[in-house]
Amino acid sequence: AFEIEIAGTGQIVPVASGQSAATALAEAGIEVPLSCEQGICGTCLTTVLAGVPDHRDMYLSAAEQAANDCFTPCCSRARTPRLVIEI
Ligand code: FES
Repeated sequence: AFEIEIAGTGQIVPVASGQSAATALAEAGIEVPLSCEQGICGTCLTTVLAGVPDHRDMYLSAAEQAANDCFTPCCSRARTPRLVIEI
């Protein structure tokens, strides 16, 4: 489990182990556009300002994943207790 902070509003959204980040955000009233929900299409790509994503997509290149500046909330998680994202 980890938490997501929404930059600007400071809203904190907890992501439980069994749910996706996109689902947790939707339950908190923050809709991320989704399509494949499998890390393939990139539709859900979201800017990351702080924290380290645990990339589980096949959309970003290894270099893009290593940049730690975006992630796919449909399938990816976090290596740090908190990710700060920009919606
Ligand atoms: Fe396709 Fe997330 S919805 S990569």
